[in-house]
Amino acid sequence: MHTIEEDIKSILISEKEIKKAVKKIGKQISKDYEGKNLMLVAVLKGSVIFMADLMRAITVPLNIDFMSVSSYGGGTKTSGVVKILKDLDHDLSGKDILIVEDILDSGMTLSYLSNLLRQRNVSSIRIATLLDKPERRVADVHADYFCFTVPDEFVVGYGLDYDQQYRHLPYIGVLKPEIYEK
Ligand code: IMP
Ligand code: MG
Repeated sequence: MHTIEEDIKSILISEKEIKKAVKKIGKQISKDYEGKNLMLVAVLKGSVIFMADLMRAITVPLNIDFMSVSSYGGGTKTSGVVKILKDLDHDLSGKDILIVEDILDSGMTLSYLSNLLRQRNVSSIRIATLLDKPERRVADVHADYFCFTVPDEFVVGYGLDYDQQYRHLPYIGVLKPEIYEK
């Protein structure tokens, strides 16, 4: 039997560490958004697990919504122009938007997205990301809330995928190189 665990070279961040860090930023967000009109906007699909845990760590009232985007054009590099595959269902006027992402890498996606949402009469926009990979940053964007800084390695699990696989690993792991080279 082949299990997904066999494809993991090492565990970078354990389930326990993630739980603790998500609780901590949930607490901070609850403080910062006291009396505000909080709406969490998750970017599908990588952020679903983080979103599910984070929203339960927040104690102030909130709404949630989901968006799905993809990089325009083929190739391996993010072009910076993203195509909206699924837009939000709700009106954003007067909302304090907190974008929930799995990982902030080049920052191209979030830079485009936050500029786009900013044009919709929102009251404020901030970014919460599980992982921050600052070495690869190209766009001028920063996370207002993040749980962990990661080195420039490709990681999977807790929502993050390689070729749509490994999202359901409960921790953040580094893939064995032979998986890419296959
Ligand atoms: P960027 O910040 O526009 O470069 O894009 C960030 C997106 O790239 C994330 O939402 C992920 O979908 C993907 N990504 C970047 N680094 C990784 C990684 O190490 N593992 C899995 N997905 C990644
Ligand atoms: Mg993503």
